Amino acid sequence: MSQRIVLLPGDGIGPEIVGSTREVLDALGEFSFEELLIGGISIDEHGTALTDEVLDACRSADAVLLGAVGGPKWDEAVARDPSAPRPEQGLLAVRKELGLFANLRPVAAIPALIDSSPLRPGVIEGTDLLVVRELTGGIYFGESGRRGSTAFDECAYSVEEIERIARVAFEAAITRSSGGKPRLTSVDKANVLETSRLWRETVTSIAGEFPEVELEHLLVDNAAMQLVSRPTEFDVILAENLFGDILSDESAMLTGSLGMLPSASLGESGPGLFEPVHGSAPDIAGQGIANPLATFLSAAMMLRYGLGKESEAGRLDRAVEAVLERGFRTPDLFTGAAGETEAGTAEVTRLVLGELDR
Ligand code: NAI
Ligand code: MG
Repeated sequence: MSQRIVLLPGDGIGPEIVGSTREVLDALGEFSFEELLIGGISIDEHGTALTDEVLDACRSADAVLLGAVGGPKWDEAVARDPSAPRPEQGLLAVRKELGLFANLRPVAAIPALIDSSPLRPGVIEGTDLLVVRELTGGIYFGESGRRGSTAFDECAYSVEEIERIARVAFEAAITRSSGGKPRLTSVDKANVLETSRLWRETVTSIAGEFPEVELEHLLVDNAAMQLVSRPTEFDVILAENLFGDILSDESAMLTGSLGMLPSASLGESGPGLFEPVHGSAPDIAGQGIANPLATFLSAAMMLRYGLGKESEAGRLDRAVEAVLERGFRTPDLFTGAAGETEAGTAEVTRLVLGELDR
């Protein structure tokens, strides 16, 4: 039986990049697709960013591939009426309901794009790291509210929540290491926050299960600085929800463009959710110029971590690299340097399909 993939294109450029990704997946194997609504388009159709039917379809799928959600239209509706549904509620609900507590964001400097980064080539050359972010706990899910003119957001973590994400990070460090000693950097703010002190204690105790991994602890402010000053020295970075959100966007700049970064969100069991790190890019939606590569690379992570198809994943990763090496660039990557050719979404997709055919 063919594996079942739920596609959630969402809003803005979502339908363009997910449409292209479907073509690429069709070239790699036999999959059955179910295309469903999430985010703003679901609000327009059903009054909610995620219906129970879509959630059930996701639960019973082998994997879920998402484009992006949101846009000015729904932001304006919320500005007029703060109780109006918000597109990102759909995304938070899928993550929570599927128990997707681990967010994996690989960041590797792609040789062909080294000059697209705002950082000096000498600093980023050889960067190859993985951010493992806790996704269903901490301050994004704590109690929040207003007391008179004061607002508050609670940050809470349990030992169990920290243990399970720590194990994912240690295991990822081992899987990624090719010969060298696997390294894990755990990020916290243990000099100030109680949740961080529990975080550090718990990660240290889990380290006992993985003696082959070298563990270091880094305060988040220091980690933010070192990520841009010595990115090549990181291997796996483990962080709680808020710190991981910020550090993974920061590390996006090491690759040159937000349009290049994939992510995977995994639970204890059941289907994972695979999506590009960028948003719905409403400023360029409908123009045929969106960079589909972060979504292709997310599909490669889906093949690798969600569907057990490592060789297809590797073929897709290499096809993306080959197209970049030949100089083809969507406008977000195009610098006008010699050897570069500007190309739209459809042409880049056709070129990747061509590489897969070789
Ligand atoms: P964004 O990531 O959508 O766009 C930031 C900038 O990067 C824009 O100039 C955009 O054109 C460009 N960009 C992003 N992806 C690109 C791609 N694949 N190809 C070429 N250029 C690309 O972030 P922004 O502007 O802050 O948010 C826009 C909307 O997306 C908002 O409604 C926001 O809430 C939503 N959003 C959704 C996310 C998700 O669905 N996971 C994540 C982040 C934002
Ligand atoms: Mg973010």
